[in-house]
Amino acid sequence: MDEVTLARIIHVLGVIIWGGGIGFLVIILMPRLRSNPTPSLQFQFFLSVARPFAAWMRYVSLAVGLSGFAMLHFLSGWDRYLDFTTYWWVHLMTATWLVYSALLLRQFINTRRKCTPQLDDAAATFRLHKVSRMQRNLFILTVITAASALYGVHGSW
Ligand code: HEM
Repeated sequence: MDEVTLARIIHVLGVIIWGGGIGFLVIILMPRLRSNPTPSLQFQFFLSVARPFAAWMRYVSLAVGLSGFAMLHFLSGWDRYLDFTTYWWVHLMTATWLVYSALLLRQFINTRRKCTPQLDDAAATFRLHKVSRMQRNLFILTVITAASALYGVHGSW
């Protein structure tokens, strides 16, 4: 097996776990949380799930990024960053990864500082609403990015 194939396997497995994980949060977990009538408890439960999830996703994100850059290296494809018209989907993959990694980094720093907010119901409702919206947007971005990359690699736009 050559290096590009190995990197591609790691990359696509990472993307599947990444998309599946966020999809689970958006489609299953967040709507279920809303069935709990106490927002402050909803928020505490959300944190108890989101923290281990983010810890795993840090490794997944690292694997997706490293395997992506490795593919660019082995394919001698760094100059794709200079050709936006043809390789806009490489820019999109990189931008999505940067956004996601920045969010994970912020979450990591907050966890390190041991910020566990004790929120009243109104503040918890606001925070959960904000987090839900962000996750939904991230999920949509992930799906668009994966579809664009698949079309970029296997089709022509
Ligand atoms: C640092 C970030 C990333 C880099 C540098 C990167 C780079 C690459 C490269 C070089 C390829 C192979 C292109 C080719 O064969 O010509 C690829 C394929 C792909 N990437 Fe990424 N990528 C990154 C992040 C992402 C993200 C965040 C997603 C999805 C959310 C994604 C989804 C895909 C998919 C679905 C393929 C197609 C695999 C195939 O069928 O061969 N990538 N990526």
